[in-house]
Amino acid sequence: MKEIRDLELAGKRILVRVDFNVPMDEQEGITDDIRIRMALPTIQYILDQKGKLILCSHMGRPKGQRVMAFSLAPVAVHLSTLIGQEVRLAPDCIGEDTEAMVASMQPAEVLLLENLRFHKEETDNDPVFAENLARLADVYVNDAFAASHRAHASVAGVPRLVKESCAGFLLQTEMDFFHKAMSEPVRPLMAIIGGAKVSSKLGALQNMLDKVDRMIIGGAMANTFLKSQGVPVGASKTEDDLLDTARQLIQAAKEKGVKLYFPVDFVAADRFAPDAVVKNVTAQDIPEGWMALDIGPASTICFQEALADVRTIVWNGPMGAFEMDAFARGTMAMCQAIASSHALSVVGGGDSNAAVKKSGEARNISYMSTGGGAFLQLMEGKSLPGVDALG
Ligand code: 3PG
Repeated sequence: MKEIRDLELAGKRILVRVDFNVPMDEQEGITDDIRIRMALPTIQYILDQKGKLILCSHMGRPKGQRVMAFSLAPVAVHLSTLIGQEVRLAPDCIGEDTEAMVASMQPAEVLLLENLRFHKEETDNDPVFAENLARLADVYVNDAFAASHRAHASVAGVPRLVKESCAGFLLQTEMDFFHKAMSEPVRPLMAIIGGAKVSSKLGALQNMLDKVDRMIIGGAMANTFLKSQGVPVGASKTEDDLLDTARQLIQAAKEKGVKLYFPVDFVAADRFAPDAVVKNVTAQDIPEGWMALDIGPASTICFQEALADVRTIVWNGPMGAFEMDAFARGTMAMCQAIASSHALSVVGGGDSNAAVKKSGEARNISYMSTGGGAFLQLMEGKSLPGVDALG
């Protein structure tokens, strides 16, 4: 993968695919700008090199329609504040008006193209659409790690059409950290996998079992594993069609010598509500009709013990329904345990990142990925179309 420092940028039109798909409130205020700030090193470098910076991104899923709630206009304003210079917004990402705006650009100016997904050809990876984007640029830079698992036109098509293509600093950093953690880890290597469903993490669970020394399984997906071992889990969420799969994964871990850690107790509740009746129970004692919504204090201690001497941690998925304070303690304790360990810690996925933020431990985590689906795809051992396209 070519790096941005390898290329001559001065005076050239540099098209940078970023992932500015940021959460917004109803007043179009950006509620979390981390993805924008993480792209700043690439943005600043291109401006310092006197490139003509053309940024493109998707926002939400407007499905090929020009839905103004998904406009990148608020991002243009915010970015302009962050970099202290004007960021013009093109009316569209392709077409005559946009081409004219690009043609009039001076070195070190910034133009943000309007939402790529206003055209369904973007998600279809349509070659003509890719050609129209590619003609805006002399150099293509992918700095959109979080979108690099999508074989879309701006991610997988355009880099093959522009003369020179390379990775931006964010994409490079993301790949480097993941590689350090998974391909050449200092051992013991621990995976912590949580979240609601075994089904959405199946590929990751299978692949990680080939790589790690230990694995903690928490969140609602642990219920399916426990149920597969005959533990009654009350009304907790389970995926009953995956009980055999869960048994196979446990068997595979045994054969590979991977130590698996499951919760030994839970915070159980009579319903999923902030004012639910809540109590701590052992994993065997979830009352009928009640559900496990967080790991309990004994599990936290066991997991802390299991983490104490590990040297590398990869974490994806919370331990419980941490968005409700009554069920947040287990996930918060894991954030603290990871943050205070001496391991290289790499965290990915929207929920895990939100949990780390809530815990106030973000600066004590080695690396927090900007990717959700892209991070999971790497955990599954698959390559990313956006990275493959860079050659
Ligand atoms: C994300 O938020 O994970 C990326 O921006 C990709 O968005 P998508 O899932 O809509 O492709």
